[in-house]
Amino acid sequence: MESSTDRSTQAKAFDETKTGVKGLVDSGITKIPSMFHASPVTLASMQAPPPPHHKQLTIPTIDLKGVSVDMTKRRNVVEKMGEAAEKWGFFQVVNHGIPEDVLERMIEGTRGFHEQDPEAKKKFYTRDYARKFHYTSNFDVLTSPGGWRDSLACYTAPDPPSLDELPPIFGEIMMEYSKKMMNLGELLFELLSEALGLSPNHLKDMDCTKFQVMFGQYYPPCPEPNLTLGIYKHTDFSFITILLQDKIGGLQVLHDQYWIDVPHVPGALVINIGDLLQFISVEHRVIANRSIKPRISVICFFSTFMKENPQVYGPIKELLSEQNPAKYRDITLTEFSNMFRSSVVIDTPPLPHFKM
Ligand code: OGA
Ligand code: NI
Repeated sequence: MESSTDRSTQAKAFDETKTGVKGLVDSGITKIPSMFHASPVTLASMQAPPPPHHKQLTIPTIDLKGVSVDMTKRRNVVEKMGEAAEKWGFFQVVNHGIPEDVLERMIEGTRGFHEQDPEAKKKFYTRDYARKFHYTSNFDVLTSPGGWRDSLACYTAPDPPSLDELPPIFGEIMMEYSKKMMNLGELLFELLSEALGLSPNHLKDMDCTKFQVMFGQYYPPCPEPNLTLGIYKHTDFSFITILLQDKIGGLQVLHDQYWIDVPHVPGALVINIGDLLQFISVEHRVIANRSIKPRISVICFFSTFMKENPQVYGPIKELLSEQNPAKYRDITLTEFSNMFRSSVVIDTPPLPHFKM
């Protein structure tokens, strides 16, 4: 068993390379460093048998075509979305109005950042997560097992960076894409408000679309994919998350105690409910990349990750009654992100700490 000092020396040395997991792969390693090894409990969950046949379901795909003009269609979509949000916490959407070339350019821009000359990207490497743009590997690697991925992150609303604060290789597409995400987010929050029986603007008026942070995840091929994960299981710190994944696959959601694959659906975006919006916020993870090509995903979170944010959120008063009392107390997003950060250390989800 290695000591925690070895672990922390290893993690610090890794961090100081500033080239992340991709740097390890590029150096030609054939075994992954022990700081990336999953815990015995996680390893067991990776070897668990697949779901029995009748449970081999997949998350619903919802077609958004016409929802803004055809009220019958809209009612139908609202019903499906409400059900998906409650039962799965996850669904895919197609015909969301974002042109395919924008999706493609966003994936390629993210690839471009991660695959550029290491010297050019090193200057963005930091653990100061309040910076408008940052590149890092595993925000919690100094305290928990590393996942086989590197990340870039950019706070895009309410106070977007100017183009000269962003790496030239993908600044423009990032800003274009984040605006499109904002428009889609507004539509999704309208539909989710309606699914809750509220007026369409309710969640928007609560400022659920006010804060936006974008992530670009890069999962290099992993030489020992049975020993680690791409991202360990977690719930998201957001109200909702909009995820764009390439064709490689690997994202899984926990449903009825089984890990279910979220397949790549051409042109689709994956939506999931985060901790801040209670339908259900479902645990998910990404397996370590078994293919020979890197896997890329781009994630739009409606919330602020690790940034100070004094805004208060609480239960929706209109939905409370004697039969349906508040489950969580009012919190600021700063309080939530502090709990999120420490919950990584103590390995329990942040949400239960705010129960009434
Ligand atoms: C995340 C996440 C999944 C993916 O970044 O929170 O769950 O497919 N990502 O990259
Ligand atoms: Ni996630």
